[in-house]
Amino acid sequence: MSLLIKNGTVVNADRSFEADVYCESGKIVAVEKGLNAPHGAEIIDARACLVMPGGIDPHTHMQLPFMGTVTSEDFFSGTAAALAGGTTMIIDFVIPNPGERLLDAYHKWRAWAEKSCADYSFHVAITWWDESVHEDMGTLVGDWGVNSFKHFMAYKGAIMADDGVLTQSFPRALELGALPTVHAENGELVDYLQKLLLKKGIVGPEGHPQSRPPKVEGEAAQRVIQIAGILGVPIYLVHNSAIESVDAIAQARGNGQRVFGECLTQHLLIDESVYYDKDWNRAAAHVMSPPFRPSAHQGALWEALSGGILQTTASDHCCFCGDQKAMGQENFARIPNGTAGVEDRMAVLWHHGVNMGRLTTNEFVALTSSNAARIFNIYPRKGVIQKGSDADIVVWDPRRHRKISAETHHQKIDVNMFEGQEVIGSPVYTISHGVVVYADGCLQVTLGAGMYIDRPPFAPYMQAQKLANNTSPHIKVNR
Ligand code: URP
Ligand code: ZN
Ligand code: ZN
Repeated sequence: MSLLIKNGTVVNADRSFEADVYCESGKIVAVEKGLNAPHGAEIIDARACLVMPGGIDPHTHMQLPFMGTVTSEDFFSGTAAALAGGTTMIIDFVIPNPGERLLDAYHKWRAWAEKSCADYSFHVAITWWDESVHEDMGTLVGDWGVNSFKHFMAYKGAIMADDGVLTQSFPRALELGALPTVHAENGELVDYLQKLLLKKGIVGPEGHPQSRPPKVEGEAAQRVIQIAGILGVPIYLVHNSAIESVDAIAQARGNGQRVFGECLTQHLLIDESVYYDKDWNRAAAHVMSPPFRPSAHQGALWEALSGGILQTTASDHCCFCGDQKAMGQENFARIPNGTAGVEDRMAVLWHHGVNMGRLTTNEFVALTSSNAARIFNIYPRKGVIQKGSDADIVVWDPRRHRKISAETHHQKIDVNMFEGQEVIGSPVYTISHGVVVYADGCLQVTLGAGMYIDRPPFAPYMQAQKLANNTSPHIKVNR
């Protein structure tokens, strides 16, 4: 199977240049001007288009059992929707129930994900602690290609990891060469405020942001950054939505602490007013955590993206349809938390980022693909158009107009967070392992064609830690 993409402009995170891209057996084998197609090769004319690394969405939840229901999007439909939007790989989450062996949960999720039509990988959540968790973390890193572990500081009484769990898990991750990732919201405060609001008779969706104000996120971000700093462990904070958490990350990075941050496209564009919509269903459709914020926070998030404080964009794709959201009709705290975005993440970021002059095309590639590949240690296999990399490519037409709507999207959910938005710039072709899987509005996907992507551990962290602890008193790892 061979494919030649001719006449396009290759856009990588570091530079853009005119070149043809030739792919064979799922890999990029040449990136040069004036390539000729061998007999039988498929040819795409990318004139006036950009040829970019396929998007990597580092935060999705396909087929997630959560808050008494299961997300409506499974691994097949969800990865198909991702491909339609130019995203060729997702990193999803294995979330064990407290008390459940990590390895059991991991294999359950691996079986669910076999139907994926785009590449996938898994962060594994640490939702409880005992010796078996310590042991299974080692097996997951050593044998199963996992190099990141997720910690939810919220969702008390369900999957919340308290400071005790963080303190056990972070050093274990470090010694394994794995990266802890964190949902930073103070779960105790959320629980307290939810109960207080309900007691006052506030039961509608407006109770959701009121029980999770920006400081609840900021406090948790500051605390977990301090914990990680004391332990000398790098961390990655998911879905930062507030000035408070961005400031905490900026300060830590300024002090030389290795802290990475992610931002969701939804948080860049949607503000808190959605929770005060008179239509309960519309308001409930926006219930996700952290919630949408007053608009000043959006400006701070854009600046954090262009200024390098936040390095990745994600969707936190977590689909619940109207009938599922209705579980919380009498109590906002029971509305399943989650919104969709895997299909539109790239187009929305392009339109509001590149077209509006906030991001360069190279920054766009960094924020949608290359930085996630680097942070999660799959670069340059993913995240770059160069010889030897996987042939995961999006051919992007920067002039293509499209109106986003739930009526036309591929996502298995009855609403779209960006409903009615006209965006300029969209994929015309998406290529996964050298195969065209989306062309001019049509998906051509195969059940199970997606590959599980092993992510190797970060050996240099381990070496640095050993050096700091054993041989050189001059290397300061803990701050
Ligand atoms: O509301 C959200 N974000 N749902 C998915 C679970 C999580 O917190 O990421
Ligand atoms: Zn979360
Ligand atoms: Zn999530």
